[in-house]
Amino acid sequence: MRTLIVDHPLTATLLTTLRDERTTNPAFRAALRDLTGLLIYEALRDAPVATFPVTTPVAVAQGTRLSHPPLLVPVLRAGLGMVEAASALVPQSRVGFVGIARDEDSHQPVPYMESLPRDLSGVPVFVLDPMLATGGSMLHTLDRLRARGAADITAICVLSAPEGIAALRDSDHPVRLVTAVVDSGLNADAYIVPGLGDAGDRQFGPR
Ligand code: PRP
Ligand code: URA
Repeated sequence: MRTLIVDHPLTATLLTTLRDERTTNPAFRAALRDLTGLLIYEALRDAPVATFPVTTPVAVAQGTRLSHPPLLVPVLRAGLGMVEAASALVPQSRVGFVGIARDEDSHQPVPYMESLPRDLSGVPVFVLDPMLATGGSMLHTLDRLRARGAADITAICVLSAPEGIAALRDSDHPVRLVTAVVDSGLNADAYIVPGLGDAGDRQFGPR
C-alpha cells in the first residue's frame, strides 16, 4: 500500500492544536479544517489534469482543471469536519456519506448509514476520516466502496496507528493512505497514543 506522510511545519503546528486537550471544540474544528486542506493539496499532487484556453483581461492563457474530481466520502461523525475544506478546494466533487460508530467494548465498527452513488467504476474516491486506529471503520468503508466498483481509493486520515496501516496493507483493497502522522500505537481501549482523544467528541461534544 502506498502511504504518504505529509510532514510540514504547518501540519505539525495544526496537529499540535488538535492534540492539545485544552483546545476548544470550535478551535479543534478550525484546525481540522485547515489541516484537511493541506492533506487534500498533497493527495492531489499527481492528479491528472486537462487544459483549456482561458481568456484573461489581457490575452488567452492556458487554463487547467482536474480531469477526474474525486468523490468525497466523509465517515460520520468525525469525517464531517473534513468535508468543508475538501469541497472548497475541489468544488466539482460529489459527496457521499458513510456513518459508522465503533462499539466501545469490542472496538468493532457498527455501520448505521450509507449514502453513496450507485456506480463508482472509474471514479477516484477520497475517504475522509481523521482517525485510522484499528482500521475497522476504514475497512468497512472500503468494502462498501468496492461493492460499487471503486478501484482508485485514497484514505485521508489526520492521525494513523501502525495497527490500522497494517490492516489496510493486509487487505486486498486498492487503497492509498495520505496522513499527517503515524503515532506510536493503540491503548487497551483502542485509542491512538498519544493521539488526540475522540475526534467526534472533540468537534461536536460527547454523545
Ligand atoms: C472514530 C473515527 C473513525 C474510527 C477509527 O469514529 O472517526 O471512524 O473511530 O477507529 P477504528 O480505526 O478503530 O475503526 P467513532 O467510532 O469514534 O465515531 P464518531 O466519529 O461518531 O465519534
Ligand atoms: N477514534 C477516535 O476518535 N480516536 C481514537 O484515538 C481512536 C478511534
